[in-house]
Amino acid sequence: MNIREEYIKFFESKGHRQIPSAPVVPENDPSVLFNTAGMQPLVPYLMGKPHPYGTRLCDYQKCVRTNDLDEVGDLTHHTFFEMLGNWSLGDYFKDDSIAWSFEFLTEVLNIPVEKLAVTVFEGNEDIEFDEDSYNKWLSLGIEKNKIAKTKDDNFWIAGSSGPCGPDTEIFYFRSDDEVPNVFDPDDDRWVEIWNNVFMQYYKDENGVVTELPCKNVDTGMGLERITAVLEGVNDNYLSSIWKDVIEVIEKITMKKYSGNEKSMRIIADHLRTAVFIAADPAGIKPSNTDQGYILRRLIRRAIRHAKSLDVDINSNWDVIIADKIIDKYKTYYKELADNRKVILEVLSFEKVKFNRTLEKGLREFSKAISNLDGGIINRDIAFKLYDTYGFPIELTEELAFEKGLKVDVAGFAIKFKEHQEKSRVGAEHKFKGGLSGNSEIETKYHTATHLLNAALKVVVDPGCHQKGSNITPERMRFDFSCDHKLTSEEKEAVESLVNKWISEDLKVTQEEMSKEEAINSGAECMFIERYPDIVTVYSIGDISRELCGGPHVERTGVLGHFRIKKEEASSAGVRRIKAILE
Ligand code: SER
Repeated sequence: MNIREEYIKFFESKGHRQIPSAPVVPENDPSVLFNTAGMQPLVPYLMGKPHPYGTRLCDYQKCVRTNDLDEVGDLTHHTFFEMLGNWSLGDYFKDDSIAWSFEFLTEVLNIPVEKLAVTVFEGNEDIEFDEDSYNKWLSLGIEKNKIAKTKDDNFWIAGSSGPCGPDTEIFYFRSDDEVPNVFDPDDDRWVEIWNNVFMQYYKDENGVVTELPCKNVDTGMGLERITAVLEGVNDNYLSSIWKDVIEVIEKITMKKYSGNEKSMRIIADHLRTAVFIAADPAGIKPSNTDQGYILRRLIRRAIRHAKSLDVDINSNWDVIIADKIIDKYKTYYKELADNRKVILEVLSFEKVKFNRTLEKGLREFSKAISNLDGGIINRDIAFKLYDTYGFPIELTEELAFEKGLKVDVAGFAIKFKEHQEKSRVGAEHKFKGGLSGNSEIETKYHTATHLLNAALKVVVDPGCHQKGSNITPERMRFDFSCDHKLTSEEKEAVESLVNKWISEDLKVTQEEMSKEEAINSGAECMFIERYPDIVTVYSIGDISRELCGGPHVERTGVLGHFRIKKEEASSAGVRRIKAILE
């Protein structure tokens, strides 16, 4: 059975509209590196903003969770997973939500009622016992002693602030033992398979809880887990989600899974996550910060484990595995096939880079531990492994752990910081890339960029298109397609048109819509494939309409005076304008 498709079909039959999975790197939320739950990209809508697809939504969402990265290698942990979810945005509430979950589990997945148990929110000083959910489960035939009331585990929030509410969790009895009469959520034989959150509150950064404008439902079911449960395997990697990837790894290594589980699971899991991160529209590349660092760690850890299984790292083992993963998922995530080349380049680039130093680093590690004092790898060794041999500190820790040793991680952190401070001097004056800054002046430059883009089309050629842009608090830079050097008349005309629009104090408006609608409505954009399926379109009066993540000013009047400082060639057929607001 294709659970993913059955799920969507079922919820569509209940009036839901499928929304596309958002990218794994959140679009407008710098506070998290990756989307970790299906609801994350929906936060603005849970807070009351109307969703362009209506009030009943369902999807399968790509999620990356790396807080348990070191746990990967056991039976159940993964760094990437898919979450099946359905949402009500101020539409249905507990009654339908619970009834449909029950119907899907018992009638579509054919799980016997006896194998199910649930938890409901017991209530606390602020929020009362969730009696409605309790009664609903009873009415559906879940026995009283299969409903546990808990406090701490039945209130869901992503992190420490945001939309939240009591939840009811559904458990499945995964064991050949006889199902006990009384449900104990702490008994490991019961595994949680689905969570229905009734999001009616908002908790702010100070912990103050208020009612949301609407009562919402947010549910989430991990595809990996439900698949393993239904297929009756305890080891997720033996389920149909992983089996064929593991078989490819067995072939490459010429070793059996049995006896080599840990390394094979790590290779399978980490490469799958790396493939999805590398395919993301955010264009993440391995680096030493943020998402790039996670990507680097994943690839390097996979390489290290492949090496421990005697794989010739220089062979194309990683390409074969990545190809398998891409083929397996491309029907559901088109970006994998579209970006196959980029994904394979990311993997091979990082492999070549790491492989150059891996061998030497491992030798350095062995040498260091052979004359070690007191079982602790000191900060200098850890830093040398990082700086000279490219060993992420977590890799050194893992190697140390395997030898029963520890690493002075705190000392490493101090050294790392000192090193960073040294390298920051000199880098300080470098410009920040892309449309990333959100200061007041940078925000003004974002809007000025749209005006300039529109003016060039009017003055120079309607076929001028944006080819790139970069903003710093000091200036804006704008690259556009054009076959000639701008004449001084053209430059002056562009300047005065932009200044005319500024003086007209045009209103800047923002709308969300599907990418398709945006394109059909004539909105301009630079790299259509880099945008998610739901996009934000910014319009300025009726002179400009562009897909953009913002931020922008509310009215053009605040921009001041626009002046072109320089117009020059950037590359063949591309010109570059540097301009300022003064
Ligand atoms: N947000 C909830 C969870 O992640 C339900 O989707 O468990």
